Amino acid sequence: MTQYFATVARGLEAIAAQELEQLGATEIQTQFTGVQFKGDRALLYRVNLWARTIFRVLMPIAEIPAGNAQQLYNGTRDIAWDDYLSPNETLAVNCTGSNRQLNHSHFTALQIKNAIVDQQRDRVGKRSSVDTRDPDLIINAHIYKNTCTLSLDSSGTSLHRRGYRPAMGLAPLKESLAAALLDMTQWRSELPLFDPLCGSGTIPIEAGLKALNIAPGLFRDRFAFEGWPDFDKELWRNTLEAAQDSQIGEFPAFIGGSDRDPEILSQAEINAKNCGLRDRLQFSVTELADVQPPSPSGIILCNPPYGKRVGEVKKLEGLYKLLGDIFKQRFKGWTAYILTGNKELSKKVGLRASQRLPVYNGTIPCTLLKYELY
Ligand SMILES: C[S@@+](CC[C@H](N)C(=O)[O-])C[C@H]1O[C@@H](n2cnc3c(N)ncnc32)[C@H](O)[C@@H]1O
Repeated sequence: MTQYFATVARGLEAIAAQELEQLGATEIQTQFTGVQFKGDRALLYRVNLWARTIFRVLMPIAEIPAGNAQQLYNGTRDIAWDDYLSPNETLAVNCTGSNRQLNHSHFTALQIKNAIVDQQRDRVGKRSSVDTRDPDLIINAHIYKNTCTLSLDSSGTSLHRRGYRPAMGLAPLKESLAAALLDMTQWRSELPLFDPLCGSGTIPIEAGLKALNIAPGLFRDRFAFEGWPDFDKELWRNTLEAAQDSQIGEFPAFIGGSDRDPEILSQAEINAKNCGLRDRLQFSVTELADVQPPSPSGIILCNPPYGKRVGEVKKLEGLYKLLGDIFKQRFKGWTAYILTGNKELSKKVGLRASQRLPVYNGTIPCTLLKYELY
């Protein structure tokens, strides 16, 4: 069993842990913005392909002293890098965290890169070059106090970038956050799901992928582990085939959204088409004031804009009030959830929230408010 570490958005650690457990991970431990777990190579591939709420999976290979740049360089040079990288292959080093001596991630990454290529030059007279765009090996360095954890990044581009969304609205939700919000509402595919402010469609699309049991990683070009020396092509092919075979044909219930902006909605349609959901998701250009419930009951999940400047916030008060009015008048029997980063605006909804769940949208502290409509 190998030790892995999944990086996640702040606040989503418990949800990610649950997802990893369902995928077969063992010895799961949540940490701040991460989840430690154990598993074999098959699990590593499965998690990369199937996890909806995490950013990447790291495989720690060493913990070294890093009180200063020299210690970091020496410790990195002591690792047998030829186990992971040949001089003909390219590398990239990403660094997070800091301490007093190592407080510039670019400088820290440079020490690590130098130690690796100096070792290669000494041993075989040739060195890897750096490629930040499409490297063969991505090394992740995390500095915490006087220690550096060096890991191989098995994912590469963050897993929230599913690959179906070249087109984005003005303030799209990260796909991983949309998937986590769906978990938080306890939506399941037998329940209708509606987003009346759907923008580029992230919430209905993530719901659609879940409903049809489509692995979110199927639309990506590549995962970083495909460049590792131990890459098991056959195991990966089997993992992909199993995912393709496990898709379900139809939604059991309505999934869709609306938005008043036809341009943004056409982006939602492009995104849905890119993941094979175009004919299944129901999108319509509709002003919130004209929205009608698509079924007698279900889940509403939306993230209205919350504005940054005071003027912007003031203008949004009417939208929040309208949301509350429409919910109350037309959506009796539904349960509605609003994600917002502005407490004052949420008060304008004018309904009593039965639950308030804290969530981070990037660095912005937000709340997911639940309204039972009857
Ligand atoms: C923060 S965005 C939602 C982003 C979306 N979740 C995504 O991932 O792309 C809010 C959306 O509300 C829409 N909107 C704002 N006011 C509206 C109104 N009165 N009626 C319908 N849509 C509205 C905007 O066009 C925008 O796309």
